[in-house]
Amino acid sequence: MTTTADGRVALVTGAGGGIGAAIAARLHEQGHRVALLDLDGDAVTDLSGALDPHGRTALAVRADVTDPHALGAALRAVRTTWHAPDILVNNAARTAAGSVWDVTVEEWDAVMATNLRSVLALTRLCAPAMRERGWGRVVNLVSLAGQQGGTLAGPHYAAAKAGVLVLTKVFARELAAHGVTVNALAPAAVHTAAVARLGASAVAAAARTIPVGRMGRPSEVAALVAYLVSEDGGYVTGATFDINGGAHMR
Ligand SMILES: NC(=O)c1ccc[n+]([C@@H]2O[C@H](COP(=O)([O-])OP(=O)(O)OC[C@H]3O[C@@H](n4cnc5c(N)ncnc54)[C@H](O)[C@@H]3O)[C@@H](O)[C@H]2O)c1
Repeated sequence: MTTTADGRVALVTGAGGGIGAAIAARLHEQGHRVALLDLDGDAVTDLSGALDPHGRTALAVRADVTDPHALGAALRAVRTTWHAPDILVNNAARTAAGSVWDVTVEEWDAVMATNLRSVLALTRLCAPAMRERGWGRVVNLVSLAGQQGGTLAGPHYAAAKAGVLVLTKVFARELAAHGVTVNALAPAAVHTAAVARLGASAVAAAARTIPVGRMGRPSEVAALVAYLVSEDGGYVTGATFDINGGAHMR
């Protein structure tokens, strides 16, 4: 797996913690300039400061991905600081539980806006510059729940992720001839701070159901993203990558 430290501009959503933070750190380590977008402004400010205290290669952007105006403003901030993103990682999502019989319409709409509509909105905002440049990479975080239906995750979360899977293929077809790849990455159980808060016994119980015998690490997901956005990833598009310790084998 070869990656090039070629200093491209990457925008990572949901970079305030968990997998998104690991992706942002990994892309920064690869030599890319990284804009870290999150609803949690303090978290991205801290992380971006840790990546580059001088603020030359890391930028914190506080924005809500459900708000089209905020996304437009975020894009302008990235463009003004560097240039329009070459790399977009649609990672921000709300993890939501619930039964198909109980989810309220309001909650359904809120999860769809965060987990699905934001991917449409942000990809449409970023794709034109990538197309013009003849180079671009989009990676969408989906989920095993979007492939198999939710077990722990709710139906709204699962349906939104299934929607992102299809949207990945739609954008991949639209952009393939322009040097822009669009892929999806489907984790199952990745050990983030939120998961750790469930407690050691819950984590151990979940790990026993995974063939590899443990949860995934955010850094393992980030490594796959680093490959997909590299020069070497140029022939891979419209694909879904399972990263689930064998929890789902096709
Ligand atoms: N952790 C897992 O086991 C797992 C499994 C399958 C899929 N995924 C997917 O991977 C991605 C990252 O998951 P994670 O576990 O790191 O999640 P997380 O909850 O730890 O982090 C999500 C980040 O997105 C941000 N965010 C939420 N709503 C936002 C909004 N409206 N606008 C801007 N930012 C917002 C949050 O502030 C947070 O920093 C998500 O797309 C998730 O669905 C994770």
